[in-house]
Amino acid sequence: MTFYIHTYGCQMNVRDSEAVAAALVEAGHEAVADEASADIVVVNTCSVRAKAEEKALGKLGLLCASKRERPRRIIGVMGCMAQRMGEKVFEKVPTLDFSVGCRAARLIPGVVADIAAGGEGQRFVTTDISDHDVPHGHLDAGLSAFVTVLLGCNRRCSYCIVPDARGPEYSRPAKEIVDEVACLAKRGVREVTLLGQSVLNYGRLGQPVFDAPAPDGSPYTEPFPRLLAAVARVEGIERIRFTSGHPSGCTEELARAFRDIPQVCPHLHLPVQSGSNRILKSMRRGYTAEQYLAAVERLRSFVPDIAITTDIIVGYPGETEEDFEATRALMRSARFDNSFIFKFSPRPGTPAAQMDDDVPSAEKERRNQVLLAEQDDIGVANNALWIGREVEVLAEGPSHRNAARWSGRSGQNKIVVFDPPPGIERGDIIRVEIGRANPQTLFGEPRGAIGRNRLLHVPVPLVGSHSLL
Ligand code: 5AD
Ligand code: SF4
Repeated sequence: MTFYIHTYGCQMNVRDSEAVAAALVEAGHEAVADEASADIVVVNTCSVRAKAEEKALGKLGLLCASKRERPRRIIGVMGCMAQRMGEKVFEKVPTLDFSVGCRAARLIPGVVADIAAGGEGQRFVTTDISDHDVPHGHLDAGLSAFVTVLLGCNRRCSYCIVPDARGPEYSRPAKEIVDEVACLAKRGVREVTLLGQSVLNYGRLGQPVFDAPAPDGSPYTEPFPRLLAAVARVEGIERIRFTSGHPSGCTEELARAFRDIPQVCPHLHLPVQSGSNRILKSMRRGYTAEQYLAAVERLRSFVPDIAITTDIIVGYPGETEEDFEATRALMRSARFDNSFIFKFSPRPGTPAAQMDDDVPSAEKERRNQVLLAEQDDIGVANNALWIGREVEVLAEGPSHRNAARWSGRSGQNKIVVFDPPPGIERGDIIRVEIGRANPQTLFGEPRGAIGRNRLLHVPVPLVGSHSLL
């Protein structure tokens, strides 16, 4: 049968959709690029805000309505909303065929086979939420791939539904991750993004992720920097990114890894959520505004050009004008390269949902707009600093707007548009001198040779018996 997976939410969901797609292909199904022609449609959902769930439910309603003309079509739901709502999703969407919880995605091909064979009734399948037998397959990935390193989240920030949806933290063994990356590199992947809700927590729960402790004299002893060094040893991987960060993981070792491991890109997504210490405390974020800024400074003192991006929630319960101004002030001090601003949305079962959602929605909207404008000003100023400087770009192909020019991303994750030199191929790393900038994009001319299959040198000793660990 043909299938299509519609994905809402964050990169973890994009990754999970890909792994499920790979499992469906392995079971003999065929991925198609347009949803309308697919026999099986799965909606991968996000619960982070009420709006995301409303959208997914609307989408599922439409898809299920299409079964009137196509009764053999199979419609299913997976991801955070499926986990959170359980059987209740069938009350909202009565003709839905299946719902599969977050850690049960490996069961999807079996559920589909059962339904296709005429198995009766709707089904909700879930597994133990601390289960970690989740699919890790990849489709033909192109230049860049996501690799999950940490499942779930243990932080329990007051506003966040993620721990309920995605379950407790589990760090995959480093060897398993490195093997997956090596396999991707052989298939042509040049850039990997290591994923975890709080990725810097990797291996910090005491669960052994390496076969042996770091040997004496090793530059990295903390699990996540060690993982970065191990992944950097994989031949063919030119760039390593990871998301999302938390200030408690911004250690000196991490800053050194950013500086000393050439493949590690100078960009960190480091959600701050608020600049008010009162609000941060109520949010249970585990840091103050000052500690957050100190973490940013630590990273910048090792890598002055590092790009920092963030998430901010406006209109959290009890957020006063003074709290909001503190967030604005923090934005100015941190000089973020980009900020994603969200209006607080109470999520069922979270501590913040018990509080009075007392900031009127018009005021949430105003604060949202003020911060967006603030970020635009900071973004313009930040990008202007690149004019006259060179950046390294991973060439991705002709630009969407103007096919005569090419685009790619700098290490800082900024989109760079440039004139393609003769002989350039997708996946080449090229130096571009920036001549012009707007808030979203840098424009420039190629300088110097094209780097292809660079011989990688990582200043890390071999560890243990594994050549890559
Ligand atoms: N309301 C609004 N925004 C939220 N986020 C998480 N939970 C909520 C909520 N209840 C935002 C945070 C997080 C991003 C992925 O979504 O900023 O970093
Ligand atoms: Fe949405 Fe969070 Fe789930 Fe990602 S982990 S899909 S952001 S609820």
